[in-house]
Amino acid sequence: MKSLMVTGGAGFIGSNFVHYWLEQYPDDRIVVVDALTYAGNRDNLSGVTANANLRFEHADINDTERMQQLLRDEVIDTIVHFAAESHVDRSIEGPDAFVTTNVLGTHSLLKAARQVWLIEGDGDGNPLAGHRFHHVSTDEVYGSLEPDDPAFTERTAYAPNSPYSASKAASDFLVRAYHHTYGLDVTTSNCSNNYGPYHFPEKLIPLVILNILHGKALPIYGDGKNIRDWLYVEDHAYGIDLVIRQGKVGETYNIGGCNEWTNIDIVQLVCKLIDQRFDADENLAQRFPDSPAANGTTSNTLIEFVRDRAGHDFRYAIDASFSENELGYAPRVTFEEGIERTIDWYLANESWWQAVMDGSYQAWIETNYKAA
Ligand code: NAD
Ligand code: TYD
Repeated sequence: MKSLMVTGGAGFIGSNFVHYWLEQYPDDRIVVVDALTYAGNRDNLSGVTANANLRFEHADINDTERMQQLLRDEVIDTIVHFAAESHVDRSIEGPDAFVTTNVLGTHSLLKAARQVWLIEGDGDGNPLAGHRFHHVSTDEVYGSLEPDDPAFTERTAYAPNSPYSASKAASDFLVRAYHHTYGLDVTTSNCSNNYGPYHFPEKLIPLVILNILHGKALPIYGDGKNIRDWLYVEDHAYGIDLVIRQGKVGETYNIGGCNEWTNIDIVQLVCKLIDQRFDADENLAQRFPDSPAANGTTSNTLIEFVRDRAGHDFRYAIDASFSENELGYAPRVTFEEGIERTIDWYLANESWWQAVMDGSYQAWIETNYKAA
């Protein structure tokens, strides 16, 4: 039995991880630590809050003392560190929060882990046996690929281009340093773009789904030819599970979808799938009367090419062969299945996204959405 601290467990990937883990390992204990920033949402955990093995702690990872106390009180042996500022556009508008949370916050957590697991240890002068600090990172630390470049491997040199990716790269290096310098048992995973339930609608896929339902423009940055490698979020949780259980201490593992799409193609696909749902279910036109499909036209008429993101990375692609060979990792959900599941989840969970849109998302769109 494990006792996990999951930081950022009320965010998109963290909450999916908590759902995944409690289903796979119902006897394990999970303490979610989340500061509930604009991206954190307790509703993301509503399906599991009654679980006696789950504790929610509203706390900031920068509060080192509190992190130490939690590690001691809950006899935590595994930290799974998701907490971060995660949106590239926000990092361009205001990089400070990214340094505070992603760099200083990660360092605060590392200090807490070192104090409790290595310095206090088992009380007999030994490090706590079986401890693990798993750091969740991104493929964006490797920079941008040209169309014919080979995909990122774990040995690709870091070349972060946005304040977001630079802050994540810095946190990866701190994690590495705490292993090499102090002997903390760490692993890191660098993953490609995730999609799925509970995805905050400032990110491309949920933004497009909700804008279609409301008949709002679908903003495509630049010419829409930028490429991302998309992975269903549950497969990210599965990959992290493999790393925690079978990964080698001190190692980093790339997790990806082997699933590259240009932005314009993915937006066209989402348009087509939503139109098909409106054709098949006349209730949708009543629920979403402003959607193009409710008005005899198609969702892709909403596409608008807008000013490009500053420093927009052209292409990300993960070579996951190391994880495949070492851990037996491969995505289990096909993109066709995952994107359908995702659209159906947003259609079935209107109360979730209505609550999100009533708050910070709307304010963000008003400030940041600029037509070309
Ligand atoms: P998210 O923005 O949806 O969630 C982040 C969570 O962290 C929120 O619940 C927020 O409240 C919490 N948080 C922020 N600052 C905090 C602090 N100081 N203390 C405690 N909690 C804090 O992000 P996400 O998309 O779920 O990403 C999770 C992690 O996965 C991040 O580290 C991100 O870099 C990484 N990642 C994301 C993707 C992706 O496609 N979204 C891909 C690869 C890696
Ligand atoms: P995003 O979901 O923000 O993830 P990331 O920047 O971490 O890859 O964006 C995915 C891609 O979609 C990226 O190339 C930027 C682009 N994009 C748009 O074209 N329009 C949008 O409104 C958003 C949010 C993103």
